[in-house]
Amino acid sequence: MKDFSFYTPTRVVFGRASEEQVGSLVSWYGGHRVLVHYGGGSAVRSGLVGKMLDLLHASGIATVELGGVVPNPLLSMVRRGIALCREQQVDFILAVGGGSVIDSAKAIAYGVPYDGDVWDFWAGKAVPQRALPVGCVLTIPAAGSEMSSSCVITHDELGLKRGVNSDLCRCRFAIMNPERTFTLPPYQTAAGAVDIMMHTMERYFCRYDDMALTDALAEGLLRTVKDSAVAVLRNPQDYVNRAQIMWAGSLAHNDLTECGYEKDFATHRLEHELSTLYDVTHGAGLAALWGSWARHVLPGHESRFAQFAVNVMGVTARYGDLPGTALRGIEAMEAFYCQLGMPTSIPELIGRPATPDEIALMVERCSRGGTMQLGSIERIDASAMATIYRAANQPRP
Ligand code: NZQ
Ligand code: ZN
Repeated sequence: MKDFSFYTPTRVVFGRASEEQVGSLVSWYGGHRVLVHYGGGSAVRSGLVGKMLDLLHASGIATVELGGVVPNPLLSMVRRGIALCREQQVDFILAVGGGSVIDSAKAIAYGVPYDGDVWDFWAGKAVPQRALPVGCVLTIPAAGSEMSSSCVITHDELGLKRGVNSDLCRCRFAIMNPERTFTLPPYQTAAGAVDIMMHTMERYFCRYDDMALTDALAEGLLRTVKDSAVAVLRNPQDYVNRAQIMWAGSLAHNDLTECGYEKDFATHRLEHELSTLYDVTHGAGLAALWGSWARHVLPGHESRFAQFAVNVMGVTARYGDLPGTALRGIEAMEAFYCQLGMPTSIPELIGRPATPDEIALMVERCSRGGTMQLGSIERIDASAMATIYRAANQPRP
């Protein structure tokens, strides 16, 4: 077990009537002039952005709007947001959308009080010291950015996707109305479920395995999302199961399932190269890679994977066959991804195999030119990264 510090300062306001509180929440956290930041249109079409603007105005709060954030959010939009906030003297940012919008809002929040180039934080040249306060109205449970300390941005010109972690960017509040997720297309619903589960699995499979309480929380969360994802794909307007997924998304990435453990996040780092190169949905990229990563790290960790197989995937343990049980858990997870309509290989994800040059480029970027290793349960160097990408590049039967 590892020593830990658990800090989760985000106020969660959850349920059908939660949105009504946006004005009082922004005021409570000191907002007078607010940037309302949103994505490519879903939150405008649903009337959510209009409703937020009306409620803010009714509370005497001035607003400035900036829409158009794309999935895998771009630095160019962050720069526009910083200039706008400075010009309009914005003192609070309200993100209305999913992980991409929230991350774009967090990056703007870092950039406004910073004198240098905001990319310095992702380039490792500076550490954030201040940030504007951010709140969010969540429309897709997936990335967990509403409670996480993470902010993932893509540099459009350099083609680099990088994350920065700091408690400074944690949302002051997160408004979560599960009804807002009824309109999610099946693909986004499924990719969101994969991402939520992966945030928990990236902590479950680390070099520690002795926290029974953390295991129970993690395994319960994983079983819940697994069952609820199937239910909402059948009935998109199933409020209770939408709600369970939404709450699980926050708990999966607010560090609760890390207490006593630590992040592995190798699959995430490998995936970020896929979503940069091919502009694919993050959760789908994770599904395409996880089985190959799991088989790679399995030797020596059969007992942990067997525990996962039995307690999460419902595999029946075969007496004396730990490796077989462990492997059946990985296969069961891949079968679950298929059931959700998610890919389990790179060819399924992008419609063709990656070329050898593309794999070399992803390895080069992911390993920072061979200087960086990933992971906790096993260290993944550049050669192991190439092995995992190549294994994921084989079409599945
Ligand atoms: O742009 P609009 O029109 O709003 O459409 C979005 C977008 O196309 C759509 N959508 C969102 N809510 C909807 C909806 N469509 C219908 N009804 C609704 N209620 O869904 C699409 C995906 O949205 P996006 O915000 O990109 O999804 P997600 O929350 O999965 O965020 C993905 C980004 O977060 C990063 C990922 O790498 C990716 O860039 N991550 C951020 C993390 C963090 N900050 O803690 C951790 C994650 O591991 C992840 O890396
Ligand atoms: Zn993720």
